[in-house]
Amino acid sequence: MRHRTALALILLVLLTAGLTSQSPVRTLAPAVEAKIDSIIRLMTLDEKLGQLNQIGGTWYDTKTERLNEEQTALLKAGSIGSFLGVTGAAETGRIQRIAVEQTRMKIPVLFSADIIHGFHTITPIPLAEASSWNPALVERSARVAAMEGAASGVHWNYAPMVDIARDPRWGRIAEGSGEDPYLGSVMAAARVRGFQGNDLRAFGSLLACAKHFAAYGGAEAGRDYNTVDMSERTLRETFLPPYKAAIDAGAWTLMSAFNEIGGVPSSGSPWLMTDLLRTEWGFKGMVVSDYTAVMELMNHRIAADSTEAGIIGLSSGVDIDMVSRIYLRKLPEAVRTGRLSMAVVDEAVRRVLRVKFAYGLFDDPYRHARPEKEKELLLSKEHRAVALAMAHQSVVLLKNEKALLPISPTMKTVALIGPLAGSENRRDLVGAWAWAQRPEDVVSVIDGLRSKLPAGTRLLYDRGCEISSDSGYRAEQAVKLAKQADVVIAVLGESQRLSGEAASRSDIGLPGRQLELLKALKSAGKPVVLVVMNGRPLTLQWEADNIPAIVEAWHLGVEAGNALADILTGAVNPSGKLPVTFPRNLGQVPLYYNHKSTGRPFSVKDHYTTRYLDVPNTPLFPFGHGLSYTTFAYSALTVAKNEITAGSTLDVSVTVANTGTRAGDEVVQLYLRDDVASVTRPVKELKAFRRVSLAPGERTTVTFTLTPVDLTFLGPDLKPRIEPGTFTLFAGGSSDAALETHFAVVP
Ligand code: BGC
Repeated sequence: MRHRTALALILLVLLTAGLTSQSPVRTLAPAVEAKIDSIIRLMTLDEKLGQLNQIGGTWYDTKTERLNEEQTALLKAGSIGSFLGVTGAAETGRIQRIAVEQTRMKIPVLFSADIIHGFHTITPIPLAEASSWNPALVERSARVAAMEGAASGVHWNYAPMVDIARDPRWGRIAEGSGEDPYLGSVMAAARVRGFQGNDLRAFGSLLACAKHFAAYGGAEAGRDYNTVDMSERTLRETFLPPYKAAIDAGAWTLMSAFNEIGGVPSSGSPWLMTDLLRTEWGFKGMVVSDYTAVMELMNHRIAADSTEAGIIGLSSGVDIDMVSRIYLRKLPEAVRTGRLSMAVVDEAVRRVLRVKFAYGLFDDPYRHARPEKEKELLLSKEHRAVALAMAHQSVVLLKNEKALLPISPTMKTVALIGPLAGSENRRDLVGAWAWAQRPEDVVSVIDGLRSKLPAGTRLLYDRGCEISSDSGYRAEQAVKLAKQADVVIAVLGESQRLSGEAASRSDIGLPGRQLELLKALKSAGKPVVLVVMNGRPLTLQWEADNIPAIVEAWHLGVEAGNALADILTGAVNPSGKLPVTFPRNLGQVPLYYNHKSTGRPFSVKDHYTTRYLDVPNTPLFPFGHGLSYTTFAYSALTVAKNEITAGSTLDVSVTVANTGTRAGDEVVQLYLRDDVASVTRPVKELKAFRRVSLAPGERTTVTFTLTPVDLTFLGPDLKPRIEPGTFTLFAGGSSDAALETHFAVVP
């Protein structure tokens, strides 16, 4: 029974309010703030609006000079504060020289770019990296991206993308860390630390930009840019935590989202951009709009014309207008006619200048851009080694019946089949957002396998079919090869263009005729290993029912082929865990592990409970799932105390043993359920995890410390609180963790 006296609640609210609402904010010395004020006093209105204006270069063009005459004239007039997509130490240096030598105020410009998962050394897509559940490695991977970007003149990275996504139809699920607010927050913070480092001025640091604020991943029906409509509770409990975590980790900038939430477009929402972000969270950095998002306020039909769109955007708190040039062109008149106050403009300029000071551009406008460093770092051996390590840990072994994998050395002939196996489609192995990548830098699966299979093993290859199109289907030839082999490896999945921005799918099965090919291969009667490369969970029910081994490889980056060959041959034991639920079919979507109980929780014995008639409620592969070539056994889940008070911590231990014959890594996961509360709570929520390495026969006891933050939730008033009562803990190797124990919070 739960005690819920008013006094206890008030005390608890007081106790916990400070835990979740305020974050440490990055501030500059008072002397710098004073300097910024004095600069602003010297600026004309047009120069101020110039700081808030961002233009695109010739969109990641690799030619030498990337500004046209009109852009150069704007730059000289002080009408450009930042650039999108201009990279290269030489060219950014040339442009910066104009800004600091030929403009009246001599304010340096910022160069921004989307370095989402590596610049030249492309690492796995973020969803894949999240599958590692290894924040330290993810941080290193982000650092590699930052070093390469910084050497190439980039200052400001449009990453991390921290949008929670529960709908695999949404193509941008590939760019984030999946469905869980806790894992998403851990990954968000790791990436911010990786990009920004401890010292923004030190070589290799980039300004991070957490995006897309807010809840862009909540698009209805998973259709990109679509309407988002959710309760403030869901927004705060599930979608907002990773943005907050990025800010707490020190992110200096945020990007506003394209979507509306409950009738208000994010890029024109004073509640989001000012009340929540600045007042409640105390964020002192700057916000850039998403690409033309200010202009799109007209399409949302909350602005009648571009002047109104600009006024709404800026006065909501969107400081920089990315490429629509509305602030630059329309806001001078709005200020002169009194529709927009100069104070609002000044505040946005102050935020932009703060960031430029924080990054050290006033001391050294050329910062890290160095042609010699570019040569040394881009695709360096060390960077490729990080990409390989990251790829190893990103792979998730979904199924491995009768230990078909790793490929046994007795299998002397291997048939490698599929449109993602050969060297022709190498571009597809890196996934979305890899604009600087060259196919020749990517290791294909066939090349990886050739170099890692034991000498004497025959490798047969056929493409089998195309990724999406009907043409080029050649199952007959593929089956012929399969019949000659001891094992068939089918490498299937999505092309680069099938995930990422504007890449929503209404059918998330294997595209084109790939499933047909797989069925044909199975009919050859040889054991088949399915390797899937994709940017989202796919529906793989037939595959899971019929194929003995399935490897989720995602899009792994430049080292894809080497990483996969290491996994398939057993040189590396897979250890990834799913950061997102795999549904059985699309009708189950949205499907996520931390759902609510409902008033009629599913029961086999009772028809009138929450269920489908034609598919179980359970996922095909749950959140947190991932196998290894060894096995792990969990025991002794214990709490240090059976009762605690609301303000105290609690140690929770669990023992995990490697019960197989190979060394391996396991990700130990801890989930919590608040058994009864004044508002409905999820059936379980991930609260902690740890990756451990165990030799065969080795066991270890992992201890997690639960803090009051872990027990805090938003009460009926949406204010944080802890309530007395019982809690259940679950521990294991996935969200289906079977071990459980209990404790109580007492008043
Ligand atoms: C995307 C952003 C990206 C921006 C600049 C937009 O279309 O939504 O994520 O940062 O373009 O490239």
